[in-house]
Parts: sequence; structure tokens; C-alpha cells
Amino acid sequence: MQVLVLPSERRATAAVAGFIGRTLRHTPDVVLGLPTGRTMIPVYEELVRLHRRGRADFRKATTFNLDEFSSVRSDHPGSFSSFMRRHLFDRVNLRTSSAHFPGGAPRTDAYDESIERAGGIDLCLVGLGLNGHLGFNEPAAALAPRTHRVRLLSATRRANAYLFGGRIAGVPSFAVSMGIGTILRSRAVVLLVTGSSKARIVKRAIAGPVTTRVPASLLQAHPNVVVVLDRRAAAHIRRSLS
Ligand code: GLP
Repeated sequence: MQVLVLPSERRATAAVAGFIGRTLRHTPDVVLGLPTGRTMIPVYEELVRLHRRGRADFRKATTFNLDEFSSVRSDHPGSFSSFMRRHLFDRVNLRTSSAHFPGGAPRTDAYDESIERAGGIDLCLVGLGLNGHLGFNEPAAALAPRTHRVRLLSATRRANAYLFGGRIAGVPSFAVSMGIGTILRSRAVVLLVTGSSKARIVKRAIAGPVTTRVPASLLQAHPNVVVVLDRRAAAHIRRSLS
């Protein structure tokens, strides 16, 4: 794992957006895995700025989002589809037919098949849940390798209440998530974590034992992962890095 610690959230999120912009310039038909979450909002804002300056062209790109809630329509303001349209897709030139979300098809593994048909994910951007989840792969004794339906833990529903007017009861109990195997098959993974609330789980994810109880720790087994942290998220690992 390559770990990059930047002095501020702004620098960390701009570094990730800059990396995606360079990837789009180098490989215009890139297949991206994309997450939602508050951490990613400034990344998508910066990508929109890069796009407006002609430095991020999504015309030939394909995207596969990591997860989506079950039982909300894609046009519901709390859905991850709405989140992506609001923060990125409606503001750049990605073709509507090139943006994919799990859960649309009756068979969840149809999602893996469409990822394979697209040639696999070249670059998967991921965030980190407070409990170590990746996408909606929640901590458990065993993890599903492929796209699957998940029952969300109450901590995760709480963390996502901001999308449903702050009401935990409004957050669906189930979601569909890309599996951990699908994420790990991506050619490159960028894990972005910011803020002091994630400092402990960052340490467990990148410097603790590899365990399904901290799904993000499985990234340690991937040969091409860049971890981008701001100073706050890196607070507990700085000593082990220096
Ligand atoms: C959600 C998403 C994850 C994301 C996590 C962190 O649960 N399913 O993909 O990484 O939240 O979100 P935040 O950035 O808001 O802390």
C-alpha cells in the first residue's frame, strides 16, 4: 500500500480528483468504480471544476457505483443515484447510459457480469465506513465476493441519515453492494479518508490484521492501492509511518 498523508482535507480531496483527472486524460475510456459519502463531495466538486477547465473529459468513461439502497426509487433524493447526479453526473459530460448502479436488475450478479463486459474496473475509488466497511460490505464473519443484498447495520443507517432528512428511520434497512471480490479485482484502488472521526478505523484498516471484521483491511492484500489521508485521519498511524 502506498500511503499519502496530506496536510488538509482540501489537499487530500484535490489530490484524488487530480489523479482521476490525469487517468481520464491518459485513458479516456477508463472504467471507474465510484463511491458516495460525504468524504467524496469535495472530490466530485473538484472534478466538476477540472471538467469546466477542460481537464476531465468523461465522454468515453464508464462508471459503476459501489452500492445503492434497496426500496428507494433512483429519483428519490436520498438514493445514491440522486447523490451522484447532484454532485457529479449532471455536471460533467458522462453519458447517462454509461453510469451504472447495483440493484437495478433482478439478479444482483448481473452487475458483476456488466462490469466484466466493460472489461473490469480500472480504477476504483473507495471511502471508509466508520466501522471499516467498504461500499456496503459490512463487518462480518465472512464477506460475499460478488454483488449482493445486504442488511445495513444500525451504525451505517445512522451515518447515512443525512440523505433522508436526518431521520434514521427513513434510511432503508437493505442495500445492494458490489462484493469485496469485485472491488479487489479492480486494477487499481484509491482509498480516501478524511477527518479525525476515522483515525482509529484507518489504523485498523491499513496497519491492523487482515480480517473480515474490518472489510477495508482486505485492501492490504491488493497489489495496487493508494491510500490518501488528511492529517486528521492519519493521526494514529503517523508514528508507524515515520
Ligand atoms: C456509505 C457508503 C460508503 C462510504 C461510507 C463513508 O456508507 N456506502 O461507500 O465509504 O458511507 O461515508 P462518509 O464519507 O459520509 O463518511
